[in-house]
Amino acid sequence: MTLSGTAGWAGLARRGPEIVRWLRLGSGLVMFTYVFLHFVNHSLGNISLDAMEQGALIQEWIWRGPVGTVVLYGAFAIHLPLAFWALYTRRSLRMGWIEGVRLLLGFLIPLLVLQHALAERFAYSYYGVHVIYRHTLLNLWVLNLLTAGLRQLAVFLIAWLHGCIGIYLWLRVKRHFHQVAPFLLVIAVLVPTVALLGAIQGARQVETLAHSDPAWLANLRQTGFAAHPDVTAALWTIALWSWGGYAGALVLVFIARAARGLVERRGGTVRVVYPDGRAVRVPKGLSVLDASRRAGIPHASICGGRARCTTCRVRVLLGSETLPPPSPAEIRALAPLGADRAVRLACQLNPTADISVWPLMPPAATVRDQDQFNATETGAERFVAILFVDIRSSTQLVESRLAYDVVFILNRFFEAAGSAIIAAGGAPNQFIGDGMMAIFGTETDPARACRQALEAARLIDWHLAEMNRSLANELQQPIGFGIGIHAGEVIIGTMGYREHAQMTAIGEAVHIASRLQDLTKEYDCQLVVSEIVGTSAGVTLNDFASHEIQVRGLSAPLRMRAIDSAAALEGPLTGVEAEQDVDKVVPIYARSR
Ligand code: FES
Repeated sequence: MTLSGTAGWAGLARRGPEIVRWLRLGSGLVMFTYVFLHFVNHSLGNISLDAMEQGALIQEWIWRGPVGTVVLYGAFAIHLPLAFWALYTRRSLRMGWIEGVRLLLGFLIPLLVLQHALAERFAYSYYGVHVIYRHTLLNLWVLNLLTAGLRQLAVFLIAWLHGCIGIYLWLRVKRHFHQVAPFLLVIAVLVPTVALLGAIQGARQVETLAHSDPAWLANLRQTGFAAHPDVTAALWTIALWSWGGYAGALVLVFIARAARGLVERRGGTVRVVYPDGRAVRVPKGLSVLDASRRAGIPHASICGGRARCTTCRVRVLLGSETLPPPSPAEIRALAPLGADRAVRLACQLNPTADISVWPLMPPAATVRDQDQFNATETGAERFVAILFVDIRSSTQLVESRLAYDVVFILNRFFEAAGSAIIAAGGAPNQFIGDGMMAIFGTETDPARACRQALEAARLIDWHLAEMNRSLANELQQPIGFGIGIHAGEVIIGTMGYREHAQMTAIGEAVHIASRLQDLTKEYDCQLVVSEIVGTSAGVTLNDFASHEIQVRGLSAPLRMRAIDSAAALEGPLTGVEAEQDVDKVVPIYARSR
């Protein structure tokens, strides 16, 4: 790729976060390999001290040669600044516990490992002091166990744990990770355990020799740091300066974060509205996931915001026309889902204007849920409005009439309601006894789907009034009805058995719409509409009575409006565009085979 012109640089800038992630992963893997081989070498202590020292020669050949030196220290020179950068760019310090542990351990490692690195490598390269296993074991495990020894043990475990968590977070979004996870866990536990046992065995051999053979000990002290007290003092000075510099750099990162916060607040804010009506105002430049984290709204994000898991995905209900285009990483992550353009990754979406979003995965989603939701061969996710309409007093209708009359009246009812639904742009989908379910939005956007559903309710009232007038002589009393409307993400697919299969929708939104229809009896009204329908449709329903119910699986109560007469929607719908072209709409059941 050539970087001719601003387009090339712009493309590179858009891929920047992805490049940073790969650099961090690559450099981390190099250092993890170093730690792993270090542990393998320690394990040789289970054989003998000599075996450890023979193995150390191979390690030195690998890591002290020109290639090994560049690779190892290059990795360190990349990984540490990128860790500072990650801390700076992270907009919220709210995170999952595992990410928090990784971050904390990662920043502890340089502090704890510094002296060991100076003694083992810097002293060798700069002062020519060659330290071998017996020097280190004597110093750490025999002479200074409670100070230097325990510190070394801590860094030993912290570095390993930090690396293992990093690898876990990297691999856990992979499709077959759960199959290999038990084996990886065994390796993660076994390697440091065997290494620690090897180090203890080596240390005990050194201790035995030191106590039983004074000549051996005197001879050992002719080499290593015992023979260079001046170098020890110099290394202390270097360590103190390095610790100070490291702490200063950390403080600078937090100062930079605070300064950025001030600048961002001056640059304006945007409002992110959630399905339960909560609105979170955040500075421009923050992602939707940042907004959720800041407001403490549970939001699935298995990969921690790296555009690798798609569990944070949301459907943008309002404001999609103002959104910045997706980055290459976002496009790549969403492509397998076959999602439409209103579906975006919350961790990658930085809104520049107010938006309304609908998180598509439950907050506690796992990678397995992800697979389940991605099963496009069995259906597709889609945001739709669901309408349930049910005839009132049907029992009396059946009891007082002949079967022929009942079927005739019910068919007239279905005709009146169904034609209203089709005229509004929806699709009658299921006829259940004396009621019917309709779907809106299989071929249109969420806002229009919700407007269509409201318009359908108004038309049903009108059509049924007409029907009641025309059947006035047949009916003892006019046919009444109740309607429930809700909107949400459902799975649309062909379901059923052989030639009886038909396209339908399943999901929580369907159950809720049905429940809202039941509530029309309790509230003694024609129509109950969830708040999300009005919000998505851009229709103001504030004049109607507001209620709340607790729905299992939802973190907040569901708000809804009870509307005595669906005809009263005429005012709110006036001026709001609604699809009423019957020819453009093919009933969903007609496309099901
Ligand atoms: S959190 Fe994983 S893709 Fe957004």
